[in-house]
Amino acid sequence: MSNIQSVLHETRVFTPSDEFVKQANVSGMSAYQALVDASQKDYEGYWAKLARETLQWKKPFTKVLDESNAPFYKWFEDGELNVSYNCLDTHLTTQPEKTAIIFEADDGSVTRINYRDLHARVCQFANGLKSRGIKKGDRVVIYLPMSIEAVVAMQACARIGAIHSVVFGGFSSKSLHERITDAQACAVITSDGQFRGGKAMPLKPAVDEALGMGGCEGVHSVIVYQRTNSEVTWGGNNIWWHDLVTGQGTTCEPEWVSAEHPLFILYTSGSTGKPKGVQHSTGGYLLGAMLSMKWVFDYKDSDVFWCTADVGWITGHSYVTYGPLAMGATEVIFEGVPTYPDAGRFWKMIQDHKVTTFYTAPTAIRSLIKLGGDLPRKYDLSSLRLLGSVGEPINPEAWMWYYTEVGQSRCPIVDTWWQTETGSHMIAPLPGAMPIKPGTCTLPLPGIQATIVNENGDEVFDQHGGFLVIKRPFPSQIRTIWGDPERYKKGYFPHEMRGYYLAGDSAHRDEDGYFWIMGRIDDVLNVSGHRLGTMEIESALVANPLVAEAAIVGKPHEIKGEAVVAFVVLKGARPADAAAAKKLAEDLRNWVGHEIGPIAKPDEIRFGENLPKTRSGKIMRRLLRAIAKGEEITQDVSTLENPAILEQLKEVVR
Ligand code: PRX
Repeated sequence: MSNIQSVLHETRVFTPSDEFVKQANVSGMSAYQALVDASQKDYEGYWAKLARETLQWKKPFTKVLDESNAPFYKWFEDGELNVSYNCLDTHLTTQPEKTAIIFEADDGSVTRINYRDLHARVCQFANGLKSRGIKKGDRVVIYLPMSIEAVVAMQACARIGAIHSVVFGGFSSKSLHERITDAQACAVITSDGQFRGGKAMPLKPAVDEALGMGGCEGVHSVIVYQRTNSEVTWGGNNIWWHDLVTGQGTTCEPEWVSAEHPLFILYTSGSTGKPKGVQHSTGGYLLGAMLSMKWVFDYKDSDVFWCTADVGWITGHSYVTYGPLAMGATEVIFEGVPTYPDAGRFWKMIQDHKVTTFYTAPTAIRSLIKLGGDLPRKYDLSSLRLLGSVGEPINPEAWMWYYTEVGQSRCPIVDTWWQTETGSHMIAPLPGAMPIKPGTCTLPLPGIQATIVNENGDEVFDQHGGFLVIKRPFPSQIRTIWGDPERYKKGYFPHEMRGYYLAGDSAHRDEDGYFWIMGRIDDVLNVSGHRLGTMEIESALVANPLVAEAAIVGKPHEIKGEAVVAFVVLKGARPADAAAAKKLAEDLRNWVGHEIGPIAKPDEIRFGENLPKTRSGKIMRRLLRAIAKGEEITQDVSTLENPAILEQLKEVVR
């Protein structure tokens, strides 16, 4: 790595090859600029034209953007369409035989399904949902492993106008319960279990537990896909997936909905304890997913597209379930983990399936460098033509490795900045247009008016940077927080920001106007590319009968990006010795795993008799961050009641 390090002291710029530029959907900087100019000249006209050209409408829209009740924006509201129709039916006459999904299971077995069969399966399942009385506007929670079925379930909901809320399979029963009740779901779609790393793991017990916690009386159907053949407890309202679809027809007229009809709710962490149900629209959302496929992923019919994200995250929604299918792509879906049977799994799959476009997260890249930096060389990766990164800033060393070892210095890397709330890419290279540099997501997509402002909402252009905002509403953005419009308004459109969308990230721009994302401005951690609210974890810890108080901070972590550090004050005395502390720390880690999910488990726990606080009683988080990082404490600690606790909090329990 030493030669890579030294390279990084220069600001390296990688210009797309002539060959790439020639074939690109947006070819050259002038083509990019022409789109940007068109969007600035006539903002609504620009989006209207794209929406007409890109989506198939049952009933064309006449209104473009409605800002009358800002920030509750509406796009293309009187137009009618169906997302599942746009993803499936549109390909039935042109390419019914084309493989839609190449599914590779944990054990390496491969299943292919073409567009005709996928359409039939979605219709059958949609008819099955209807047979349970599920209809337009109903909420359906999906808690499934990566599978063709997960895509079928989401698409089937979209087909009948039901609003899905996918819950990542790594979340605990408590988190699942919180989401089922908040969304007031009427059905849950799950599986008996899932395979990961050669092991069968249960999934359905978490659903049973969640439903047993109360407040889920509205759930009238639990549909269970049989994956692992493991034993399950059976409730009165449970039905096997295969029984539900038996005898159902393979066509199903789509429910034509307004472009503003909610397509889904996806929960994400915010700075307060309760996860937010981010509500997305039908028309604007799909437009964003398709345009970014075309522009950022430079999508071609001959591509084999692979986004490694789980459908439980926004990346899996936009770049597994919706974007690629709407484009008529062949895509890879993977059930397992990147390290099983060894750290060459991703590279082997790229070789076997001739993947052209590969999209993953920096945390995966870092762990694969560590576990086998030379492994990509053992595989034929010549099919690749484009690489992507998402979820957190990619550190330049990881970028260089990805570029040289995986992309063999041939493939542009698109570092895509966006969020659950934005629905699709916001700032990312159009790979045949702009030169790229390690560590920057480059420039906003045409039509996205991203900029950086200070605390008064004034634009800043210097190196210090400020808050990342988007000045004008855009089609794929969040519409509201489910059941909490006030939180939506306050959180994303605070008064000082003049009606701009506040992303919650800080950023700066370099001399080329390229954006560099610096991190979150709120109490949100980014652990392995996943957003975790510090308050959420604190609340989970405090819910433990032994815990009086807890504070969570992040500290840099080589693989995960950020690690979770917990400072805990017990109701009783601090653990008597190292062994007792270790045991208790482990119990509390498991507790958090049970309350939220394994991803939220603190990496480190430290016990103190108190937490450092200001006179007004606020926890001094900056001080705790410094302690977690092992930094010299330079802050004024004279206001501390008991400075001795700082020494206690420096002790790591391992
Ligand atoms: O902090 C930014 C970071 O991830 C946050 C959004 O997280 P989530 O809603 O879970 O969506 C992740 C997948 C889109 C952002 O506020 N983030 C995401 N992509 C990048 C990034 N930070 C830097 N560079 C990126 N490419």
